[in-house]
Amino acid sequence: MKVPFVDLKTQYLSIKTEIDAAIQEVLDNTAFIMGPSVKKFEEGFAALHGAKYCIGTSSGTDALHLALWALGIGSGDRVIVPVNTFIATAEAVSLCGADPVFVDCDEYYNIDVQKLREYLIAISHQPSALPKAVIPVHLYGQPADISEIRALAEEYGLYVVEDACQAHCARYQMAPRLNTLEGDPSKIEKKRALQGVTPVQRGKDGEWKSVGSIGDVGTFSFYPGKNLGAYGEAGAVVTNDDKLYQKMKLIHDHGASVRYHHDVAGHNYRMAGFQGAVLSVKLKHIEKWTEKRRENAALYTELLNDVEEVIAPEIKEGRSHSFHLYIARCRRRDELKEYLEKQGIATGLHYPIPLHLQKAYGYLGYKKGDFPVAEGFADEILSLPMYPELTKAQIQYVVERINGFYVGWGSCND
Ligand SMILES: Cc1ncc(COP(=O)(O)O)c(C=O)c1O
Repeated sequence: MKVPFVDLKTQYLSIKTEIDAAIQEVLDNTAFIMGPSVKKFEEGFAALHGAKYCIGTSSGTDALHLALWALGIGSGDRVIVPVNTFIATAEAVSLCGADPVFVDCDEYYNIDVQKLREYLIAISHQPSALPKAVIPVHLYGQPADISEIRALAEEYGLYVVEDACQAHCARYQMAPRLNTLEGDPSKIEKKRALQGVTPVQRGKDGEWKSVGSIGDVGTFSFYPGKNLGAYGEAGAVVTNDDKLYQKMKLIHDHGASVRYHHDVAGHNYRMAGFQGAVLSVKLKHIEKWTEKRRENAALYTELLNDVEEVIAPEIKEGRSHSFHLYIARCRRRDELKEYLEKQGIATGLHYPIPLHLQKAYGYLGYKKGDFPVAEGFADEILSLPMYPELTKAQIQYVVERINGFYVGWGSCND
């Protein structure tokens, strides 16, 4: 049996008629850049995530850069980034001329809030070094501790830019802690007003909210393999903030609200018409597909329970995981990966090297041992095939082969 890591073809065939018609419509209108298909998608995506605004962008990396730029992050600034994420999260900071400050992850693979708090307490004695923003990443589709992060961000005057590039339709139950803030929110709100950004609305305690709509701004990727994948590069920002929306809208289209009348020097982050058309079709199916991912993940976890050498991912209370990736921690990971490859099972590594040990960020002066949790996980994590179209038989086969590897009989069948 062959089990690919993702299967974009099967999904396309299941919605071929709708997709082909939507693409034909873009061809008929020749609306290749933005246009009605993108507008329709933006409205649908904002509604799905309970956000007031959505702007389609050219990629998730561009969405992150656009958000940071519009928040005024610039040269010499610092932005907190979890050390366990795809490099694009940090690259967006670098693109602004700012530096990422890394924080270790917790056992759910997301930024460790306790370590974030300790860092902020330590740095608060040097106000000029205080970061301007924090980027919680909802990694693999599991919501980060966003209530706590927002409470800390408000206390220390930081913006919250959610990296929800892997977390379409993931939901989070707002924790009461957020509304019992120890800091002085009015001070922060004043600071935000001075910066031209209106305060974010607080969620009600216990309310379930879509990630991406909880911070100042949320960013998404529609890279083809993502839960909501375009047929090329695409991304989006969502926000509930009127002024921030206006700024991002301007910057994303060369700073022009009227063609060839440029209020600011911006950039070209526009979404292509074809991508808006494809994404609008897929939007109708995304909740159903996400549910299927959750079912697949539950089956993996149930079956992996019996495999002692493997630790299945856990879902934290008050979260609805969207399972972009199913990450297991495995003994003898590299040998297992190679073995599975030979059995026709494709796997991935997300991510093999934490950001502080990447050559690109060597200049920041971090060293091995600085983030022991992320470093430890990097040697054990294995991403198993995960997509809505994955069958029960395929999942059973993957776990059977993993089991086989550990009990030693699998290699005889090579
Ligand atoms: C966590 C995270 N952030 C940002 C990005 C960047 O998105 P894109 O590839 O659309 O630029 C990705 C894409 O893989 C991602 O996984």
